Amino acid sequence: MNPLRSMILAAAGNDTVRRLVATAPGTRAVVDRFVAGETVADAVTAVGRLVDDGLFATLDHLGEHTVDEAQAEHAVRTYLGLLDRLQEEGLSSRVEVSVKLSAVGLKLDEKLALDNAFRICAAAGQCGTTVTLDMEEHETTDATLRLLGELRHTWPWVGAVLQSYLRRTEDDVAALAGPDSRVRLCKGAYAAPAAVAYRRGHDVDLSYLWCANRLLAGEGYPMFATHDPRLIRILGERVRWYGRKQGSYEYQMLYGVRPAEQRRLASEGETVRVYVPFGEQWFGYLMRRLAERPANLGFFLRALASR
Ligand code: FDA
Repeated sequence: MNPLRSMILAAAGNDTVRRLVATAPGTRAVVDRFVAGETVADAVTAVGRLVDDGLFATLDHLGEHTVDEAQAEHAVRTYLGLLDRLQEEGLSSRVEVSVKLSAVGLKLDEKLALDNAFRICAAAGQCGTTVTLDMEEHETTDATLRLLGELRHTWPWVGAVLQSYLRRTEDDVAALAGPDSRVRLCKGAYAAPAAVAYRRGHDVDLSYLWCANRLLAGEGYPMFATHDPRLIRILGERVRWYGRKQGSYEYQMLYGVRPAEQRRLASEGETVRVYVPFGEQWFGYLMRRLAERPANLGFFLRALASR
């Protein structure tokens, strides 16, 4: 892994860095580029605009590594309120939610996280929308897939995220390429040791394409989460090779990243879903975005220097 990337990801867990960044005057401008706001109302406004532009969205209430039951309950209630609002606004056919199991209690107790995720899925099902479980650090992959399996007994549409940087993912993809499955394939955003993860970008990309082929050959609904122009071009070719019709797979990108490309793909008839984070706990999310791209770090440092 690139040393700068490792350094930023390490800083993401450091409280002093967190305080420094949170109070720096230039921070707000950077946060606003990647985060849709702090409240449910902000989130609904942002996705309403995306839908008006012909895009789809998935909303993520920011927060992770919850070690307090009350905080997990707060996260669940925020999702329930959000799902109500999406239905009231007539957005639930184009907007779903993404959930980090660590935000609803995975670090506290797996059963609590399952019960909480169950409540969110039940509400989503009533609104006619779907839920995708985000994938976090590699130590949580087994538990996340276990809970996914439990949830899919009741709601086969609950989606999973698989990370192509993990060596295990080729097997996980094979297990999840069946009927009704919804798999969001991404490269992976966390620090992971060489024993479990590919370290070279080229290997991560090869793994991505191997997994994408497996998903396209399968019977599920693949969701290709990447901004990488080269991968997007190759995916377009593979989709045609497998005879996949538009609407039987989708592209996904992050809020604030390559918005022109999101609209270009949508204008060609592709389903494009934008991952829209909102909430007060933006620090970990922002650090992962900075680690991905040195240009983002430059933008951030310039904003901080302007104080
Ligand atoms: P990469 O970061 O290698 O970038 C490749 C190229 O894309 C760059 O060279 C550039 O051309 C372009 N690009 C990338 N970022 C850009 C930017 N900011 N501006 C302009 N161009 C840019 N991760 C995870 O571990 N668990 C998860 O649950 C999720 N969920 C998720 C959902 C969705 C919808 C997306 C899009 C991504 C995630 N991720 C994730 C993050 C993912 O793992 C990955 O870190 C980022 O998507 C960045 O990887 P890329 O595939 O974009 O390639």
